[in-house]
Amino acid sequence: MVCLAGYDLCKSYLDSNQTINVLRKATIEVKEAELVCITGQSGSGKSTLLHLLGLLDSPDSGKVMISGHEINSTMPEAASIRNLELGFVFQFHYLIEDLNAQENVALPMIISGVNSSQAIKKAAELLQALDLEDRINHYPNQLSGGEQQRVALARALINNPKIVLADEPTGNLDPEHSAEVWDMIIKLNKERGQTFVIVTHDIVNASKAKVIYNLSEGKLEKK
Ligand SMILES: Nc1ncnc2c1ncn2[C@@H]1O[C@H](COP(=O)(O)OP(=O)(O)O)[C@@H](O)[C@H]1O
Ligand SMILES: [Mg+2]
Repeated sequence: MVCLAGYDLCKSYLDSNQTINVLRKATIEVKEAELVCITGQSGSGKSTLLHLLGLLDSPDSGKVMISGHEINSTMPEAASIRNLELGFVFQFHYLIEDLNAQENVALPMIISGVNSSQAIKKAAELLQALDLEDRINHYPNQLSGGEQQRVALARALINNPKIVLADEPTGNLDPEHSAEVWDMIIKLNKERGQTFVIVTHDIVNASKAKVIYNLSEGKLEKK
């Protein structure tokens, strides 16, 4: 079943007095339990596309469908869909330096209204699933880059999102730490059926995904 889709997405930016047409009728369909990678050159519009799919921005035309419903980022329900159905991982982890790994992971669940002891317990379980059980009390600056990104991955998963959207999640890591994070993504996809949409220019790791789209000249082509 298709759980996330973008149809004929168009997006342009006005840069000084020039219009840049970044997306020109880009179409993508993501099915439940799929691991989908989106590749493309720097500046091709990958982040722009992910922001539209993640309801962080609105297309000029075209539509985004989540679980069969057309949703626009300006709709009142967009915020709760973003918080409860989508998880986000970015190139930089954006962990809060004053909170330890467990507290960082628990935070989105506490914000969504779950009591903190329950959220803290769930955070510990997730960190264990991500092979970080001996890092739960560590602060971000005490973690390696790969560990920081796995904590960010756990944080993205805490509210049981239908779909995790990741923008260059290993873009800032060396090959060894990058492989650590990719292994975890592949494991979560296989063992839990977690749906992922991952933007990357890491062709080697992207090739492990069953579904690969390339973004070029504003259009998506399925590989
Ligand atoms: N807010 C913005 N205002 C103007 N131009 C933008 C903005 N965001 C992105 N762009 C331009 O749109 C193009 C695509 O950017 P982006 O989606 O970040 O590409 P990618 O993630 O593939 O590197 C680039 O030329 C970029 O400079
Ligand atoms: Mg980008």
